[in-house]
Amino acid sequence: MSAADVAVIGGTGFYAFLDDGAESVTVDTPYGAPSALVSIGRVAGREVAFLPRHGMRHEHPPHAINYRANLWALRSLGVRQVLAPCAVGGLRPEVAPGDVVVPDQLVDRTFRRVPSYVETGACHLPFADPYCGRLRGAVLASGPDLVDGGTMVVIEGPRFSTRAESQHYAAQGWTLVNMTGSPEAALAREMQMCYASIALVTDMDAGAESGAGVGQEEVFARFRANLDRLTGLLTETVAALPDPAGCSCATWADDVELTYEVPGT
Ligand code: ADE
Repeated sequence: MSAADVAVIGGTGFYAFLDDGAESVTVDTPYGAPSALVSIGRVAGREVAFLPRHGMRHEHPPHAINYRANLWALRSLGVRQVLAPCAVGGLRPEVAPGDVVVPDQLVDRTFRRVPSYVETGACHLPFADPYCGRLRGAVLASGPDLVDGGTMVVIEGPRFSTRAESQHYAAQGWTLVNMTGSPEAALAREMQMCYASIALVTDMDAGAESGAGVGQEEVFARFRANLDRLTGLLTETVAALPDPAGCSCATWADDVELTYEVPGT
């Protein structure tokens, strides 16, 4: 079985990260099939797994992604650190389209996704800081002009927000809006993997702009235009990743009796 210790989960418009030499593997999970075959290849001297969260042809909309299968599959391949690029709308004037933000907080406004591997028993995940501090630090040290911190609200989608919803989120002080950041981050932590989100601002959300509101074309086009930049940032980050050993993302469960399987433990 192939193995990787680092993964990149590609977002909207991000369907390939590894070159042609990468191997594609099918992973079966207790939760069904992941979004696509997982590619494994070498980046900066490391074995890296790549999984496009929307599938190879963007067949999985955000509310229908099998997040549990995706994170389980990566963990079963040996992954301990996950870098998660995604497209986001900007809510506040501190950010603008084209900015790359490394968020430090998350608000979950999704309501019909399976949010956890826990199906029975007392098994409560510490999640005050939803992103790995060490991984965030590695990303921030690997590229110029990155925005350090911000709160990302994750909506159910697949529709964009109304102007009133968007203005409400901005009034809370939240910086970014997105449709895939949850439950992905929590499931990564339940799988005892470090996880950091790398958020490309593709648009200003409905409440922050005076035009017609956000459209899908704008989001895809902005992501495409920044693909090389994101790929470069990911490559630099992989080269500079800290050792995951001893990180609280992995050790939080040392004193907790887990009621689900974490492959490889
Ligand atoms: N992804 C990219 N732009 C977005 C927006 N404005 N709202 C929700 N998700 C997004």
